Amino acid sequence: MSTTTTTNSTTNANTTISTNTNLAVLVSGRGSNLQSMIDYIENGNIENANIGVAISDVADAYALKRAKKHGIDAVFIDPTAFGNKIEYEHELIKILDSYDTDLIILAGYMRIVGKNVISAYKNRILNIHPTLLPSFAGLHSHKQTLDYGVKVSGCTVHFVDEGMDTGPIILQSCVPVLENDTEDTLSERILEQEHKIYPQAVKLFIEGKLKVEGRIVRVSK
Ligand code: GRF
Repeated sequence: MSTTTTTNSTTNANTTISTNTNLAVLVSGRGSNLQSMIDYIENGNIENANIGVAISDVADAYALKRAKKHGIDAVFIDPTAFGNKIEYEHELIKILDSYDTDLIILAGYMRIVGKNVISAYKNRILNIHPTLLPSFAGLHSHKQTLDYGVKVSGCTVHFVDEGMDTGPIILQSCVPVLENDTEDTLSERILEQEHKIYPQAVKLFIEGKLKVEGRIVRVSK
Protein backbone atom coordinates (compact mmCIF):
# COMPACT_ATOMS: atom_id res chain seq x y z
CA MET A 1 0.00 0.00 0.00
CA SER A 2 2.71 2.46 0.89
CA THR A 3 4.14 3.93 -2.25
CA THR A 4 5.47 7.00 -0.51
CA THR A 5 8.85 7.93 -1.87
CA THR A 6 11.54 8.76 0.64
CA THR A 7 12.66 12.30 0.15
CA ASN A 8 15.37 14.56 1.48
CA SER A 9 17.47 11.82 2.98
CA THR A 10 20.32 13.02 5.14
CA THR A 11 22.88 10.94 6.93
CA ASN A 12 23.52 11.39 10.64
CA ALA A 13 26.56 9.30 11.61
CA ASN A 14 25.26 5.79 11.24
CA THR A 15 21.58 6.40 10.70
CA THR A 16 19.61 7.62 7.75
CA ILE A 17 16.79 10.04 8.40
CA SER A 18 14.18 11.12 5.94
CA THR A 19 11.34 13.56 6.11
CA ASN A 20 8.91 10.70 5.61
CA THR A 21 9.95 7.49 7.32
CA ASN A 22 8.59 4.21 6.06
CA LEU A 23 8.43 1.53 8.70
CA ALA A 24 8.14 -2.21 8.10
CA VAL A 25 7.18 -4.40 11.04
CA LEU A 26 8.21 -8.06 11.12
CA VAL A 27 6.02 -10.30 13.23
CA SER A 28 5.29 -13.94 13.98
CA GLY A 29 2.56 -13.86 16.62
CA ARG A 30 -0.05 -11.84 18.47
CA GLY A 31 1.43 -8.43 17.62
CA SER A 32 0.80 -6.40 20.77
CA ASN A 33 3.98 -4.39 20.07
CA LEU A 34 2.81 -3.79 16.50
CA GLN A 35 -0.47 -2.53 17.98
CA SER A 36 1.30 -0.16 20.37
CA MET A 37 3.31 1.22 17.45
CA ILE A 38 0.16 1.70 15.36
CA ASP A 39 -1.60 3.46 18.26
CA TYR A 40 1.38 5.69 18.98
CA ILE A 41 1.57 6.84 15.37
CA GLU A 42 -2.21 7.18 14.97
CA ASN A 43 -2.29 9.33 18.09
CA GLY A 44 0.07 11.76 16.42
CA ASN A 45 3.14 11.09 18.56
CA ILE A 46 5.51 10.71 15.60
CA GLU A 47 5.34 13.05 12.69
CA ASN A 48 5.82 11.75 9.16
CA ALA A 49 6.02 8.09 10.04
CA ASN A 50 4.12 5.48 8.15
CA ILE A 51 3.88 1.74 8.74
CA GLY A 52 3.81 0.59 5.14
CA VAL A 53 3.74 -3.13 5.71
CA ALA A 54 3.59 -5.87 8.32
CA ILE A 55 5.39 -9.02 7.23
CA SER A 56 5.00 -12.40 8.90
CA ASP A 57 6.60 -15.79 8.54
CA VAL A 58 3.47 -17.33 10.11
CA ALA A 59 0.33 -17.42 7.98
CA ASP A 60 -2.23 -16.98 10.73
CA ALA A 61 -0.31 -14.58 12.97
CA TYR A 62 -2.85 -12.38 14.72
CA ALA A 63 -0.51 -9.44 14.09
CA LEU A 64 -1.46 -9.57 10.38
CA LYS A 65 -5.12 -9.09 11.28
CA ARG A 66 -4.23 -6.08 13.43
CA ALA A 67 -2.33 -4.58 10.49
CA LYS A 68 -5.20 -5.06 8.04
CA LYS A 69 -7.66 -3.51 10.48
CA HIS A 70 -5.58 -0.34 10.30
CA GLY A 71 -5.20 -0.29 6.52
CA ILE A 72 -1.63 -1.56 6.64
CA ASP A 73 -0.57 -4.12 4.03
CA ALA A 74 -0.17 -7.55 5.58
CA VAL A 75 2.20 -9.93 3.84
CA PHE A 76 2.88 -13.56 4.63
CA ILE A 77 6.13 -15.01 3.36
CA ASP A 78 6.10 -18.78 3.59
CA PRO A 79 9.57 -19.88 4.69
CA THR A 80 8.88 -23.44 3.54
CA ALA A 81 8.45 -22.21 -0.04
CA PHE A 82 12.18 -21.43 -0.26
CA GLY A 83 15.14 -23.78 -0.48
CA ASN A 84 17.06 -22.07 2.31
CA LYS A 85 17.30 -19.01 4.56
CA ILE A 86 19.21 -16.98 1.97
CA GLU A 87 16.45 -17.40 -0.61
CA TYR A 88 13.75 -16.67 1.95
CA GLU A 89 15.53 -13.50 3.01
CA HIS A 90 16.13 -12.52 -0.62
CA GLU A 91 12.34 -12.42 -0.98
CA LEU A 92 12.07 -10.55 2.33
CA ILE A 93 14.53 -7.89 1.15
CA LYS A 94 12.66 -7.59 -2.16
CA ILE A 95 9.43 -6.82 -0.30
CA LEU A 96 11.10 -4.44 2.17
CA ASP A 97 12.72 -2.57 -0.71
CA SER A 98 9.43 -2.39 -2.61
CA TYR A 99 7.98 -0.44 0.33
CA ASP A 100 10.97 1.94 0.39
CA THR A 101 11.57 0.79 3.94
CA ASP A 102 13.67 3.12 6.07
CA LEU A 103 13.42 1.21 9.33
CA ILE A 104 12.63 -2.42 10.13
CA ILE A 105 10.94 -3.08 13.46
CA LEU A 106 11.10 -6.62 14.79
CA ALA A 107 8.07 -7.18 16.97
CA GLY A 108 7.92 -10.77 18.12
CA TYR A 109 9.55 -12.00 14.90
CA MET A 110 10.78 -15.48 15.81
CA ARG A 111 13.69 -15.78 13.37
CA ILE A 112 17.28 -14.70 13.57
CA VAL A 113 17.79 -12.06 10.92
CA GLY A 114 20.49 -13.14 8.48
CA LYS A 115 23.53 -11.19 7.35
CA ASN A 116 22.12 -10.16 3.97
CA VAL A 117 19.20 -8.36 5.59
CA ILE A 118 21.47 -6.86 8.21
CA SER A 119 23.91 -5.49 5.67
CA ALA A 120 21.11 -4.20 3.41
CA TYR A 121 19.57 -2.39 6.40
CA LYS A 122 22.64 -1.66 8.51
CA ASN A 123 21.71 0.12 11.76
CA ARG A 124 18.15 0.31 10.51
CA ILE A 125 16.72 -2.74 12.27
CA LEU A 126 15.37 -2.56 15.84
CA ASN A 127 14.28 -5.32 18.20
CA ILE A 128 12.70 -5.51 21.62
CA HIS A 129 13.63 -8.22 24.09
CA PRO A 130 11.78 -8.87 27.37
CA THR A 131 14.81 -8.81 29.70
CA LEU A 132 17.50 -6.37 30.69
CA LEU A 133 20.10 -7.40 28.13
CA PRO A 134 22.71 -8.79 28.16
CA SER A 135 20.96 -10.97 30.73
CA PHE A 136 18.79 -13.79 29.47
CA ALA A 137 19.09 -13.40 25.71
CA GLY A 138 17.39 -15.88 23.41
CA LEU A 139 14.27 -17.95 23.93
CA HIS A 140 12.21 -18.55 27.09
CA SER A 141 13.43 -15.34 28.63
CA HIS A 142 10.78 -15.15 31.37
CA LYS A 143 11.57 -18.69 32.47
CA GLN A 144 15.29 -17.90 32.43
CA THR A 145 14.61 -14.81 34.55
CA LEU A 146 12.52 -16.64 37.16
CA ASP A 147 14.85 -19.65 37.29
CA TYR A 148 17.85 -17.45 37.95
CA GLY A 149 16.12 -15.64 40.79
CA VAL A 150 16.91 -12.05 39.82
CA LYS A 151 14.89 -9.41 41.68
CA VAL A 152 14.69 -6.90 38.84
CA SER A 153 13.96 -7.48 35.18
CA GLY A 154 12.60 -5.39 32.33
CA CYS A 155 12.93 -4.94 28.61
CA THR A 156 15.48 -3.68 26.12
CA VAL A 157 15.21 -2.01 22.71
CA HIS A 158 18.36 -2.51 20.67
CA PHE A 159 19.76 -2.34 17.18
CA VAL A 160 19.99 -5.72 15.53
CA ASP A 161 23.35 -7.18 14.61
CA GLU A 162 24.27 -10.70 13.60
CA GLY A 163 24.20 -12.10 17.12
CA MET A 164 21.25 -13.20 19.20
CA ASP A 165 19.97 -10.10 21.06
CA THR A 166 23.49 -8.65 21.11
CA GLY A 167 23.17 -5.33 19.22
CA PRO A 168 23.79 -1.84 20.69
CA ILE A 169 21.24 -0.92 23.36
CA ILE A 170 18.94 2.07 22.83
CA LEU A 171 16.49 2.07 25.76
CA GLN A 172 15.75 -0.13 28.74
CA SER A 173 13.03 -0.15 31.36
CA CYS A 174 12.99 -2.01 34.69
CA VAL A 175 10.25 -3.85 36.55
CA PRO A 176 10.45 -5.71 39.87
CA VAL A 177 10.32 -9.50 39.89
CA LEU A 178 7.84 -10.46 42.61
CA GLU A 179 8.00 -13.41 44.95
CA ASN A 180 4.97 -15.15 43.50
CA ASP A 181 5.50 -14.24 39.85
CA THR A 182 4.74 -16.76 37.12
CA GLU A 183 5.94 -16.43 33.54
CA ASP A 184 2.53 -14.94 32.71
CA THR A 185 2.43 -12.31 35.45
CA LEU A 186 6.04 -11.28 34.84
CA SER A 187 5.51 -11.14 31.09
CA GLU A 188 2.42 -8.97 31.56
CA ARG A 189 4.30 -6.48 33.74
CA ILE A 190 7.19 -6.31 31.28
CA LEU A 191 4.91 -6.04 28.25
CA GLU A 192 3.40 -2.86 29.67
CA GLN A 193 6.90 -1.32 29.61
CA GLU A 194 7.62 -2.72 26.13
CA HIS A 195 4.61 -0.87 24.78
CA LYS A 196 6.02 2.36 26.19
CA ILE A 197 9.70 2.23 25.28
CA TYR A 198 9.51 0.62 21.84
CA PRO A 199 7.52 3.45 20.24
CA GLN A 200 9.75 5.95 22.07
CA ALA A 201 12.86 4.35 20.58
CA VAL A 202 11.34 4.44 17.10
CA LYS A 203 10.55 8.12 17.59
CA LEU A 204 14.16 8.81 18.64
CA PHE A 205 15.41 7.00 15.53
CA ILE A 206 13.07 8.91 13.24
CA GLU A 207 14.03 12.22 14.79
CA GLY A 208 17.70 11.43 14.13
CA LYS A 209 18.54 11.39 17.82
CA LEU A 210 20.40 8.08 17.86
CA LYS A 211 24.07 7.87 17.01
CA VAL A 212 25.77 4.48 17.06
CA GLU A 213 29.42 4.48 18.15
CA GLY A 214 30.54 0.88 18.30
CA ARG A 215 28.46 -0.71 21.09
CA ILE A 216 27.33 2.62 22.46
CA VAL A 217 24.20 4.40 21.31
CA ARG A 218 24.34 8.12 22.03
CA VAL A 219 20.86 9.53 22.53
CA SER A 220 20.60 13.27 21.99
CA LYS A 221 17.93 15.42 23.60
C1 GRF B 1 7.48 -9.57 23.25
O1 GRF B 1 7.58 -9.99 24.56
C2 GRF B 1 8.83 -9.11 22.74
O2 GRF B 1 9.63 -8.58 23.74
C3 GRF B 1 9.45 -10.38 22.23
O3 GRF B 1 8.38 -11.10 21.68
C4 GRF B 1 7.16 -10.72 22.29
C5 GRF B 1 6.24 -10.30 21.19
O4 GRF B 1 4.97 -10.00 21.66
N1 GRF B 1 10.50 -10.10 21.28
P1 GRF B 1 3.90 -9.32 20.69
O5 GRF B 1 3.73 -10.29 19.50
O6 GRF B 1 4.42 -8.00 20.26
O7 GRF B 1 2.65 -9.24 21.50
